[in-house]
Parts: sequence; structure tokens; C-alpha cells
Amino acid sequence: MGNGIAQVFAQNGFSVNLIETKQEFLDRALQTIERSLSRMVKKEKLSEAEMAETLKRINGNIDLNLAVKDVDLVVEAVPENFDLKKRIFQAVDEHAKAHCILASNTSSISITKLAAVTQRPGRVIGMHFFNPVPVMKLVEVVRGLVTDDDVTESVMAISKELGKTPVEVNDSPGFVSNRVLMPMINEAIFAVHEGVATPEAIDDVMKLGMAHPMGPLRLADFIGLDVCLDILNVLYEGFKDPKYRPAPLLVKMVDAGKLGDKTGEGFYTYS
Ligand code: CAA
Repeated sequence: MGNGIAQVFAQNGFSVNLIETKQEFLDRALQTIERSLSRMVKKEKLSEAEMAETLKRINGNIDLNLAVKDVDLVVEAVPENFDLKKRIFQAVDEHAKAHCILASNTSSISITKLAAVTQRPGRVIGMHFFNPVPVMKLVEVVRGLVTDDDVTESVMAISKELGKTPVEVNDSPGFVSNRVLMPMINEAIFAVHEGVATPEAIDDVMKLGMAHPMGPLRLADFIGLDVCLDILNVLYEGFKDPKYRPAPLLVKMVDAGKLGDKTGEGFYTYS
């Protein structure tokens, strides 16, 4: 999602340091952004000049410590693993200026817990984007227990500058988005497992009967089955409530490496 987030900031006039761990990942990220912008140019939503300006505002970087030195806002978008996020937050906290806001695009990990690993817990906040980032309107702005009011106000204002609609919520497992979305996806997976209907039939029911743009199983593939499992585990462990127990079929598919779009196979196959 980091690509999409960098693209949206740059499109709206912000200078962006896009940080990756390796040059090859950075090259791939910049290519993805170029493809996404070209698609917008083709659809006449963006001019060639605006595309060039947008790309000029993105500086690729593989040195995290250097890249965060002079910035006002960091948006972290690494995989959903607390120890990994903790390491990154501590490094950013050490090298960024004191006023810099540290935001996480986490989809479920506790903002309060992430804030506590830094020396600036009041300046840590959730800035949760949705895929595809250039298209989806929502930013779920997640206040940790000690997030400062002025930080929340700034992030709400910045989200509006990105052309998004921010919605403020309090820190709680899965926040609002995934607390509501993931049980639906999980239930759809239980229904497949029990032979109630095929993935296609379940998705048709939700698309045609409830006007969802994608059915829950197509959406699970799109999000990534590993990400869905990580989020369900955060809900299950966070609430200690069996209603969030990940469907055994989901666990099996992740174990088998069938992760959805990104591996070419999940509930559907992709070429
Ligand atoms: N970059 C830029 N534009 C994109 C894009 C991308 N990556 N992907 C799609 N678009 C644009 C297209 O150009 C198109 O624009 P126009 O309508 O102006 O022509 C528009 O989006 C629709 O795209 P398509 O016509 O190609 O396809 P579609 O109508 O099937 O829509 C979709 C695709 C927008 C993905 C739609 O199916 C959808 O809204 N799906 C649900 C997505 C969703 O629920 N996302 C949230 C996932 S949860 C999450 O991200 C967070 C979490 O914590 C798990």
C-alpha cells in the first residue's frame, strides 16, 4: 500500500521520500506508481504535465535514518508484524525531528502499543488507507490512548488535503473497518468450507443482493489471505472472543501459500 500512499501524497503537492529496504523493491514501487498514473492520464483524469510533476515530487530512498531526518510526517506501511513495526518506529523516533508525526497504516495493530515504544507517544497516530489507495475515499484516523489533540487535527486536515474523507475512531482491535469487515469475510470462508455454496455463488449473493463492489471472497483475495489471517488473529487475541476465530480453511490456504491476487491463487485463480 506504500506505493499508493506515496502516489496520493505526491499527486496532492506533498514532497515524498518513499523508503524501501532494497533498490530493486524501490524500482518496482516507482514502476507501480508510474503505471497507476499512466492509467489516470489515459482516462484523462490527469495531464501528462501533472504526472511528470507528481513523479518529480517522489524521492526514492533506501536509507531510512537519512530519509526521515527532515520530514514532518512519516506514514509507515510495512507488513502487519508488531516486532517489525516496533523496530521501525524506534528507528524513526530516533532520527526524525521532535515535532514529526509518526503515523501507521496498520489495519489492526494497537496504535497505543506502537506509541509506547517511542519517546513521543502523543505524536503517534493511525492513518489507515484502503486499497486501491488512489481510488478509495476513506482514511480511518485512529487515536491511540495518548494521541495529542493537535496531532489528530493535523492528520484529519492532511487527509482532506489528499482529497480523502477522514473518519476519527479510537484505538481498539481492528479499529472499526476490520472489526466489521473481517467477520464477514471469515463467515464467507466458513460457508465455503461447509459446502453451503461456491465462492462464486457467495460473492454473487453479496454483490447482487447487498451492492458490494466485490464479494467477500474476491475481496479477501484482493486484500491478501495472509493479511486477513493476521487481522483475524489480532481480533481473536485482542478480544479473547471465539467469534473472531479464523476459519480453518483460511489458515490452511495461507499455510499452502495460496494468498490471493499476489500469488496468483486464492479463492480464485489469476493470470
Ligand atoms: N490506481 C488508480 N486507479 C485505479 C486503480 C489503481 N490501482 N484501481 C482501479 N482504479 C480506478 C479505475 O481507473 C476506475 O476509474 P474510473 O471509474 O474513473 O474509470 C475505477 O478505479 C474503477 O476501476 P475498474 O473499472 O478497473 O474496476 P472496478 O469498477 O471493478 O473497480 C475497485 C475496482 C475500485 C477495486 C472496486 O472493485 C472496489 O471498490 N472494490 C472494493 C475495494 C475495497 O473494499 N477495498 C478495501 C479493502 S480493505 C483495505 O484495503 C484495508 C484493510 O485494512 C484490509
